[in-house]
Amino acid sequence: MNGLVIYYSKNGHTKTYAEMIGTKLECDVKDIRKTSKKELTKYDFVVFGSGVYIYKIKKVKKLMNIISPDKLVIYACGGSNNGEAMLPLVKEHSMTKEQSQQYSWFYLPGGMDVSLYKGIMSFVFKMMKRMLEKKETLTPDEQGLLDGINHPAFYVAEEHIDSLVQHIQKTYGLK
Ligand SMILES: Cc1cc2nc3c(=O)[nH]c(=O)nc-3n(C[C@H](O)[C@H](O)[C@H](O)COP(=O)(O)O)c2cc1C
Repeated sequence: MNGLVIYYSKNGHTKTYAEMIGTKLECDVKDIRKTSKKELTKYDFVVFGSGVYIYKIKKVKKLMNIISPDKLVIYACGGSNNGEAMLPLVKEHSMTKEQSQQYSWFYLPGGMDVSLYKGIMSFVFKMMKRMLEKKETLTPDEQGLLDGINHPAFYVAEEHIDSLVQHIQKTYGLK
């Protein structure tokens, strides 16, 4: 079985996970922005990872038009370490319920350091912080986001890819 790990990453957390997964599964690893449609169809399965940006993953629609659901596994890499709270929201914001049910999804905790952002992004985070701090009660995902804005966090670790790797090995018969 010939697999590809493909990613969309702004700050490197999603890319680091893609490289870890690629090493474990002995697969090619590519940036989606540098990969043609034709290349994507060469593989028996594709693992796609994207960072989470305002609850959404990016570029997944491009892949959904090219790769059938049985060949595509998705991971979302967010700034919160509460994947249980974040993943349902990410699915809901990224595609329709019917579409999201066709895929296997994983959440991998990335990291957040708002001091890395300048200009418009720095402004966006200030607004998000103000909005979240005004709310009387916060949901777990909102609390996770606020924690990430207030304190730099780095959650990337090899152990987080275990269940995704096991899923791929089992589904596609890899050792
Ligand atoms: C504009 C922006 C919006 C974000 N929104 C969310 C969010 O809604 N939920 C979340 O968990 N993390 C959010 N994050 C944090 C990123 O998901 C986190 O930094 C992740 O590790 C990004 O992956 P990357 O480093 O590969 O870009 C946001 C980050 C940015 C820059």
